[in-house]
Amino acid sequence: MCGIVGYIGGRQAFPVLLNGLRRLEYRGYDSAGVALVDGSGSLKVYKCRGKVADLERFTDSKDVGGTIGIAHTRWATHGEPNDVNAHPHYSQSGNIAMIHNGIIENYSVIRDALSEHGYTFQSATDTEVLVQLIEYIRNTSRCSLLEAVRSALKRVVGAYAIAVVEKDNPDEIIAARKSSPLVVGLGDGEYFLASDATPIVEYTDKVVYVGDEEIVHICRGRELKVMNLDNEQAQIDIRTLELSINQLEKGGYPHFMLKEIHEQPKTIVDCIRGRIPADGSEVVLSGVVANKEKFMGARRIIIVACGTSWHAALIGERAIEDMCRIPVEVEYASEFRYRNPVISPDDVVIAISQSGETADTLAAVELARNAGAFIFGICNVVGSSVARATDSGAYIHVGPEIGVASTKAFTGQVTVLTMLALTLAREKGTVRDEKFRSVAKGLVELPSLIEKVLSQDDKIKDLSKIFTYAHNFIYLGRGYNYPAALEGALKLKEISYIHAEGYPAAEMKHGPIALIDSEMPVVAIAPDDHIYEKTVSNIQEIKARKGKIIAVVSEGNAAIHSLADYCIEVPVTEECLSPIVVSVPLQLLAYYIAVNKGRNVDQPRNLAKSVTVE
Ligand code: F6R
Repeated sequence: MCGIVGYIGGRQAFPVLLNGLRRLEYRGYDSAGVALVDGSGSLKVYKCRGKVADLERFTDSKDVGGTIGIAHTRWATHGEPNDVNAHPHYSQSGNIAMIHNGIIENYSVIRDALSEHGYTFQSATDTEVLVQLIEYIRNTSRCSLLEAVRSALKRVVGAYAIAVVEKDNPDEIIAARKSSPLVVGLGDGEYFLASDATPIVEYTDKVVYVGDEEIVHICRGRELKVMNLDNEQAQIDIRTLELSINQLEKGGYPHFMLKEIHEQPKTIVDCIRGRIPADGSEVVLSGVVANKEKFMGARRIIIVACGTSWHAALIGERAIEDMCRIPVEVEYASEFRYRNPVISPDDVVIAISQSGETADTLAAVELARNAGAFIFGICNVVGSSVARATDSGAYIHVGPEIGVASTKAFTGQVTVLTMLALTLAREKGTVRDEKFRSVAKGLVELPSLIEKVLSQDDKIKDLSKIFTYAHNFIYLGRGYNYPAALEGALKLKEISYIHAEGYPAAEMKHGPIALIDSEMPVVAIAPDDHIYEKTVSNIQEIKARKGKIIAVVSEGNAAIHSLADYCIEVPVTEECLSPIVVSVPLQLLAYYIAVNKGRNVDQPRNLAKSVTVE
């Protein structure tokens, strides 16, 4: 939700900022803007509704000189996406400019108070209120900009990652964060600032992840200073990035999403590397092994997540209960945090988040921490807030996911959850050795199975043309593949804007079957598993009502052809791994339908990759 970038150093800031915004556009694309301070002490702000490319056009032939600046790409919360509400926002005098990612919850109280002191507001945003407050404090207390920011932040309630620059001050950026991410890149005589490391990696691999409620004082030619809101100096922990610039490019694919779908054979290899030997004889998830007494003593496991990560959690629930016989509950983080749940110190809470920045998931982690539970994180983004807020965890190691619709992160999450279930099951002695090896070996073989599915790319592209103009879709699955049905439906709706629902196949007859007619495409996930025959009966019920059936079945299933209108065959694998294999064609189907409809696949409307607001 909103991307922020900053630069101070010897280069011209504008190209660095624009480049950074392009990398962060996945975080929001309602508007974009930049503030530059030049050597003569002038503060130039350019901003407009639309994407970074619109800002680029807007600034063409404008004066964008200056070696210090901040920039923003917006996902609107307060105030509609328009030029006025775009960031950066100015203070009343026009001396201070600020960008902000997050929400200031008490902004209306502060705005009312500032209005009484003669402040007026141009925008409908909470951000403008904060920058005005900073100026008010700076003027009335005659303090430094740093002190004014610190003092203002002590008065706000909410979440923020901010960066502030000032006219007549071409040597200083003040930045701070609470619950929204912020990274500082350390170059040679220059500093970079961003919501994540992707805008930084092409300049330096040395970064500092700013801690919660910390303020960063970035001064040209001086050492970085980090302090807390009480003005106490914080330890600076310089990390080395393990990110390469190639991972951030499309690599010849028309969209990041298609690239990421096709990367899955490799990302699964990366995910299991060093964790499972080729013969599947053992599984070592070090975060679990190091905390095995916590898991062994767990009364139950609660998994908190949102969206696609929540779907992965449902698959994890099935695997852990099946193999480890530990009760598992899966919760939407946004519901969990507000419903006074019963959590005890002998519960283990697993938080799943690709970005590691999802506000609701972070709040659920906080709640679990206060209740004394042991918290385990499953994240993709290294050093992210969830990764740091949890007691231990496992990264999925699938590389940066830039397409807004999650694909390779989902399959990585299910892979890690399966490894977690296997590790615990062996430790508890609740899984037969033969089954253990067969699932572990199944994980090792997954990349080649996914390659086989991906070789049907053209076939799925052809199939997509038949359904491009459907108004609704239903996805059905049972057991491990009920979550796969939910995920298939989510992929389709978020990028094509076609209404789609996922259901447990047998649940149809309790109501939703009323929707079935000859216009309704139904994706029926029915690989060979212990409930295959039951799923086929459910497909029969759809067929009897003339629904159009697209069946996702195991290779060589000839019988289904008489029942289904269209078939996608996937390789046979262990039942608990089938959601990974069946999800790949569903990702492709959603992708091609969205492309046929001319949708912006990587940046679908109203969405953002990292949901840092609740
Ligand atoms: C869907 C999608 C979202 C995310 C959700 C949670 O394709 O990407 O539903 O899964 O916003 O995000 P993370 O996993 O970053 O916490």
